[in-house]
Amino acid sequence: MQLSDKKATLSFSDGSAPIEFPVYKGTVGPDVIDIRKLYGQTDMFTYDPGFLSTAACESGITYIDGDKGELLYRGYPIDQLAQSCDFLDICYLILNGELPDGNQKQEFDSLVTNHTMVHEQLRIFLQGFRRDAHPMAVLTGLVGALSAFYHDSTDITNPHHRHVSAIRLIAKMPTLVAMAYKHSQGQPFIYPKNDLSYTGNFLRMMFATPCEDYKVNEVVERALDRIFILHADHEQNASTSTVRLCGSSGTNPFAAIAAGVACLWGPAHGGANEACLQMLEELQANGGIEKVGEFMEKVKDKNSGVRLMGFGHRVYKNYDPRAKLMQETCKEVLAALGLENDPLFKLAMELERIALEDPYFVQRKLYPNVDFYSGIVQRAIGIPTSLFTAIFALARTVGWIAQWNEMLSDPDYKIGRPRQLYTGQQSREVPSKR
Ligand code: ACO
Repeated sequence: MQLSDKKATLSFSDGSAPIEFPVYKGTVGPDVIDIRKLYGQTDMFTYDPGFLSTAACESGITYIDGDKGELLYRGYPIDQLAQSCDFLDICYLILNGELPDGNQKQEFDSLVTNHTMVHEQLRIFLQGFRRDAHPMAVLTGLVGALSAFYHDSTDITNPHHRHVSAIRLIAKMPTLVAMAYKHSQGQPFIYPKNDLSYTGNFLRMMFATPCEDYKVNEVVERALDRIFILHADHEQNASTSTVRLCGSSGTNPFAAIAAGVACLWGPAHGGANEACLQMLEELQANGGIEKVGEFMEKVKDKNSGVRLMGFGHRVYKNYDPRAKLMQETCKEVLAALGLENDPLFKLAMELERIALEDPYFVQRKLYPNVDFYSGIVQRAIGIPTSLFTAIFALARTVGWIAQWNEMLSDPDYKIGRPRQLYTGQQSREVPSKR
């Protein structure tokens, strides 16, 4: 961290002496006021529910400029990465800080490919879930269960163990997601195939059956790979912060990532793509484009409790750059699959058009986020809506594990322990006769 020349002074209205705090500069983005000594010096905490103004860590992985609509992985803009890299390049970059050269890529791809199988007993564990269980319920359980199978990579103080568990998690997530899907369908599980790409292998595990050969469609493979790239990391969002907080207690990586999966499930976070597609399907069933205006009135009415899913973001207050790329992919996939006239895509475009002109959305700086189009792409590929968030979890695993590793490698790391403003009862006696 680089100390700034600037200092911050906190003064009080009751005449107590003002206190000075150091200010640190980031490479880009807002500076931070270091308030670590605040409590010791003033007996006061800061109050910031939802972390609207609080940096909880120092990180060098991902940077978002919400006003510019910019997203960088290790300094590289997301649009450039999405045009010229595959998902495993991105995994290498996020984990190691640099893009791989030819040899590094070969080595890394082969390492991941050779860890895609899961312990055979995990299949027995999977049988315990109801067929109609939500895939995120199954995935949370399966990822947590990995810690019961891979004891040889759970020493978090050992960098080699941390590396092995990172590779295991990245490699096994597609297998687990496909297993959860096959279980829900009552179909036999398809084992990984090493001569396919990471994403091609996932598509085969999802959609092949033992009855016939499966040929990976290149457009679909590229589209899904892009979905993975766009979701790989996103700074200190709710699930990443959950992984950090959970991991800060020293728990094993599989348990920490399972906590991230659980957090991602919520509709305000990873569950938004599922909620967005459900919203589009409902709107289509209730009158389609004709009823868009009426629906938008409900969205703007605070009492209706209806939100335009796939719109708005805590950080992006300009267009989400991932949404632009996703819209492009959406057009490509629909054209390749002969679905150019897909009514949900038309509906989404119309909603976006209206929202971008409507003062309600303009004033609040609400723009489409990545989830607005990713659901349409996944649906066209044949991925069921209930699996969307699991796909997101698969892609985000690399970000979670890199952030967890970064935290543990920091010599200053401490267990996370937020404070509170207590407004409950003061100490009182339990009545003697109850
Ligand atoms: N539809 C309608 N109004 C909205 C929406 C929306 N999607 N999002 C925000 N608003 C309004 C709020 O009602 C509020 O209005 P007000 O100032 O008049 O009270 C204002 O915009 C600010 O909204 P907040 O909820 O305070 O903003 P916050 O930063 O806390 O929320 C969030 C961000 C949760 C993403 C929100 O925009 C939302 O619920 N969007 C829909 C769900 C969604 O798409 N989530 C995906 C996020 S991206 C991801 O996880 C990959």
